[in-house]
Amino acid sequence: MRAARWRSARKIAADFMNMNSLQDLFSLRGHIGLVTGASSGLGVECAKALAIAGADVVIAARRADRLETLAAAMRREYGVRVLPVAADITAESDREQLISRAVAELGEIDILVNNAGIAPTGRAERISREIWESALALNLTAPMFLSQKVAARLIERGKPGRIINITSVLGQAASAVYRLSPYTASKAGLSNLTRQLAVEWAPYGINVNAISPGWIPTEATEGGMAKPGNREKMESLTPLGRLGLPEEIRGAVIFLASAAGNYVTGSILSVDGGYTAW
Ligand SMILES: NC(=O)c1ccc[n+]([C@@H]2O[C@H](COP(=O)([O-])OP(=O)(O)OC[C@H]3O[C@@H](n4cnc5c(N)ncnc54)[C@H](OP(=O)(O)O)[C@@H]3O)[C@@H](O)[C@H]2O)c1
Repeated sequence: MRAARWRSARKIAADFMNMNSLQDLFSLRGHIGLVTGASSGLGVECAKALAIAGADVVIAARRADRLETLAAAMRREYGVRVLPVAADITAESDREQLISRAVAELGEIDILVNNAGIAPTGRAERISREIWESALALNLTAPMFLSQKVAARLIERGKPGRIINITSVLGQAASAVYRLSPYTASKAGLSNLTRQLAVEWAPYGINVNAISPGWIPTEATEGGMAKPGNREKMESLTPLGRLGLPEEIRGAVIFLASAAGNYVTGSILSVDGGYTAW
């Protein structure tokens, strides 16, 4: 096993000798990505990032109309194939259907971005079991079983791949602003699941990493940010002194999905304006 790994490391090194352009390092042409939660916010930007780098992309969420509009815009703008699939990824049957349609209509997925997530608020002493379970189902269970499906197919076919989980700075520490027990617990789970899957699937050439965003205005966060004092508090907790832009996640996605990220696995890449640096 070890000898095989060394040979493959030498081969990878040899390939890198010929990587002399940005195109070689960052191009995703010939790859097929799947982004969940692509009907708004950061998911839209993750999908665009893959398309900018040349990948064909499957975009999934429940709101089909939004996906259709985004798919048409991406085809026009980036000239890649885009397949919108309406799916509630907390349902096993929808996850099945999502993967089988993606494979049948675009081809084998080799980049999975587990982005869909919810952040219900509520006092820990009163939060209902239903809310707790809904956050875990979307933020932790869905990424696990989508990753399992994608990885099992790659392993069976001897193909390498990339999995990128969108976790959160609140997977690392508690929220100073909101009462978010199901969210912080599920994102902490997702962060450590990233490391575990990275270790288990490294022998198959499947790199598993996470991106940990800080405060970024989206549908999920705008309401809370509009409440008196919240935005100022978030800005003051962020060394760069401002909230992020959804587009600022693009570079991290391309890096982790491309050849540039070949030797990166089990990492949690902060895109948080320094929020977790102090
Ligand atoms: N914005 C931030 O400040 C921030 C910071 C740290 C981490 N994050 C993480 O980044 C990710 C994206 O968040 P966002 O801020 O972009 O939120 P958002 O705009 O609310 O987007 C959430 C996405 O998830 C989809 N979704 C929700 N339930 C779903 C389900 N059952 N099945 C399939 N898709 C579902 C939604 O689409 P439909 O409603 O159409 O299904 C939507 O596209 C989340 O994992 C979040 O925790 C965000």
